[in-house]
Formats: sequence, structure tokens, C-alpha cells
Amino acid sequence: MTAVFGVDIGGSGIKGAPVDLARGALTEERYKVLTPQPSAPEAVVAAVREVVRHFDHQGPVGLTFPGVVVGGRTRTAANVDKGWIDLDAAGLFREALDLPTTVLNDADAAGLAEVTHGAGRDQAGVVMVLTFGTGIGSALLVDGVLVPNTELGHLELRGKDAERRASSAAKDRHELTWEQWAGRVDEYLDHVEMLFSPQLIVIGGGVSRKHDKFLPLLKDREARVVPAELRNDAGIVGAAMAAARAAG
Ligand code: BGC
Repeated sequence: MTAVFGVDIGGSGIKGAPVDLARGALTEERYKVLTPQPSAPEAVVAAVREVVRHFDHQGPVGLTFPGVVVGGRTRTAANVDKGWIDLDAAGLFREALDLPTTVLNDADAAGLAEVTHGAGRDQAGVVMVLTFGTGIGSALLVDGVLVPNTELGHLELRGKDAERRASSAAKDRHELTWEQWAGRVDEYLDHVEMLFSPQLIVIGGGVSRKHDKFLPLLKDREARVVPAELRNDAGIVGAAMAAARAAG
């Protein structure tokens, strides 16, 4: 089939690359631009166009977004410009790129990639992929099938939005030690485990690079807790997978 392109739109960077779907890997080195600040839709669309045009790509494009996405419409924007709320994002990107586009939640994209090509590939049953970054993203997969937009970063923890207490940005903001932060992550995982009883929890997001600093500090639990394997590429690969599925 034609090549599929993935774009990961994050709070600090927008990165993209063509993806080999059989291997779940990038076929060329990814190209990255800084996310415009403020991250208003027109500015982000222009940045995405720059990333895609960097490659000679003709074919479907999948894009991640750090908020709820239903039928190509972005519905929430916890950590990005509020102009994204209730916007036909897929339509905007399609017009700007003149290519077929698919938009999905960033953690959902990482989840698809991890259960197909990464840390969750041999796990049947309920898998939860949680990304710790500016916010906390969540993907819930049952035998590889995604239940999109679970938004578990916004569970309530001690009367607060969980991502305000336990994201990796919260670690930095409150200058927590790894031990202190691991305590908060444990409390968060207790809550997630109580609600969904996953067999496997995959920890992703930028901080998963440093998993040896905090995974050993987490308490034992029913679910196996493992680091993500695709790291930085999970969003790009998952976005391309979603675009390929949409293209049939
Ligand atoms: C958003 C989610 C997103 C997560 C990680 C949260 O604040 O509500 O949609 O997946 O951040 O970016």
C-alpha cells in the first residue's frame, strides 16, 4: 500500500515521519519543529504542514492530539490552546495538506503502537498504556482493541485532577524526588487498577526513558508494570496505524 505518515503533536514539539507499518518503525529519520506558543490551531496547522512537506509524502496522514478526539473533532484542550475545543481538526489538516487525514488522541496512538509493536504485543486481555508528561494520557485496550478517549489523567486524586499531582510536569513543578513522585504514581495506579483490573500497565511518555529511576520504586501490584518500548516514536507509529485503518 502507499506509505503512511504519522505526526505527533505535543506540547513542546511537533514531529513526523513516514512509517513502515509492518515493522512499526520509522522509515526515515523524523523531522521536528517546535510547537508554536500559543498553540493556536492555525499556527499548529502551519507547523504540521512544514513537517509533512519536509518529506515527499503522498498518502494518508495520521495525527495525534493531546485531547479528546471524536470523529476528527477535537473536543477538549487541557494543555493546549483553547481554540481547539470543538474544532473540525481533521478537516483543517486535510485542507492544509491536501491529503487524507485522521486525528486521534495522543495516548490512544501510543497505546495502539505499544500493543502491536511494543511492550504489550504478547499480552491478551486488558492493557492500559499511561503516558506521563505535561499531563497524564491513557489508552485502554482489550485484546488489542482500543476504547478511545478514556482520559484517565483527569481522575480525581486527593480532590485534585490526577495529572496535577502525578504527571512528570508535576514532579518538576513541585521539585519532587523520584521516591516522592513514585509514591504519587503508586497512588494513581492503585486507582486505575481498582477501576479496570488491567493485566499489564505500560508506562510511556518522555519520563519512560528514565524508567530505571522510578519503576523499581513502585510497589508490587496485580498488574505487571513495564516501560514503553517505542518511546519517542509511539505517537508517530500509532498515528500512522490509525490513518492506515481509516484508509482501509
Ligand atoms: C489530556 C489527554 C492527553 C493527555 C496527555 C491530558 O491533559 O486531557 O487527552 O492524552 O493530557 O497528553
